[in-house]
Amino acid sequence: MIQVAVLGYGTVGSGVVEVIEKNKDMVDKKAGEELSVKYILDLRDFPGDPYESKVVHDFGQIISDEEIKIICETMGGVGAAYEFTRQALAAGKSVCTSNKELVAAHGPELIALAKENKCNYLFEASVGGGIPIIRPLNYSLTAERIEAITGILNGTTNYILSKMENEGADFDVVLKRAQEKGYAERNPEADVEGHDACRKIAILSSLMLGKNVDYRQIYTEGITKITSRDFEYAKKMNMSIKLLALSKEMGEETLAMVAPFMIEESHPLHMVNGVFNAVFVKGNMLGDSMYYGRGAGKLPTASAVVSDVIDCARHLGKVIMCFWDAQEAKMMCIDEVERKFFFRVKAGSEEKVRALFGDIEEIRLADVAEETGFVTRIMKEKEFAGLYGQIADIALGERIRLE
Ligand code: HSE
Repeated sequence: MIQVAVLGYGTVGSGVVEVIEKNKDMVDKKAGEELSVKYILDLRDFPGDPYESKVVHDFGQIISDEEIKIICETMGGVGAAYEFTRQALAAGKSVCTSNKELVAAHGPELIALAKENKCNYLFEASVGGGIPIIRPLNYSLTAERIEAITGILNGTTNYILSKMENEGADFDVVLKRAQEKGYAERNPEADVEGHDACRKIAILSSLMLGKNVDYRQIYTEGITKITSRDFEYAKKMNMSIKLLALSKEMGEETLAMVAPFMIEESHPLHMVNGVFNAVFVKGNMLGDSMYYGRGAGKLPTASAVVSDVIDCARHLGKVIMCFWDAQEAKMMCIDEVERKFFFRVKAGSEEKVRALFGDIEEIRLADVAEETGFVTRIMKEKEFAGLYGQIADIALGERIRLE
């Protein structure tokens, strides 16, 4: 029997216990041995919970127990979670986590520590919830040179944008409703400002390159400035607006960024709606492949953690290779990136826009006389920013990039 401990009995942690118990036959068979949850670490007590007797409050009890071979870290954050993970790996206990903040901040160090101690640090649940994307990048697409990854990596923002699109409602209204229904956190900043997607694309980019992509170097913009009017223009152009997290090889450098983009109907990510996530991977031999599913939620995320527990159980005493070195990847400044941009101005200022931007497409909405939309030619970010800065007095809302 292989004994497991779960750190943090919140949504994901309780899901992990549930998956191990509900799918016991399948889980044990695939692990090659019976798995049993011996401890659940939490600050709280859970009177009446079926696993109440397994709850402990002292990590020391877990770390000193020789029987514990695998630990699920579902606490989140980079404080105690980091400390406990280091202690566990140093003691030769494998750790499986859903904690993208910790993986993005300390991935290479923890992977190396696991390797030194002949155990594993696995993080399938850290990106895309239940969607298998880490394992395909690590084990399946190993013959590929991955050239680009583009993802919808945050369920909350995709839900909000889908609702805005379908109901014509504004951001604040939809966010409030999403919070009431429990689809958005009470403090939604990490999601709506793009920080969550930033951590996730940092992890995927690092696996794509085998080098470390520092999440602090990733240009990140959220969705708070997107309006229902922007969606009216997008619809007129047969486009949608999605928060994309992308990473692309650009010669010697890598471009990684998170921002709202207008994408065409033909784009594979156009049909990804609601809380769903998807990751679109471009390999130099395979070409395009896409991974789609539930990017968040108790059981999908827990299922991914348990898939890592099974992998650890199958590899006790052996290291599962993961190519993510501490060497920093060379990141490209977005100033030099070329693309089209959409923006809106007050009616009556079209001449000024045309004079400044030259070749530019005008988009008019029926029944909207007070403003005009424009789509630029392909131009560098810095060139666009320079020109757009000159029309700050007539611009309405925020510019949006086209993908
Ligand atoms: N808040 C995240 C999301 C949860 O909405 O996608 C999964 O990381």
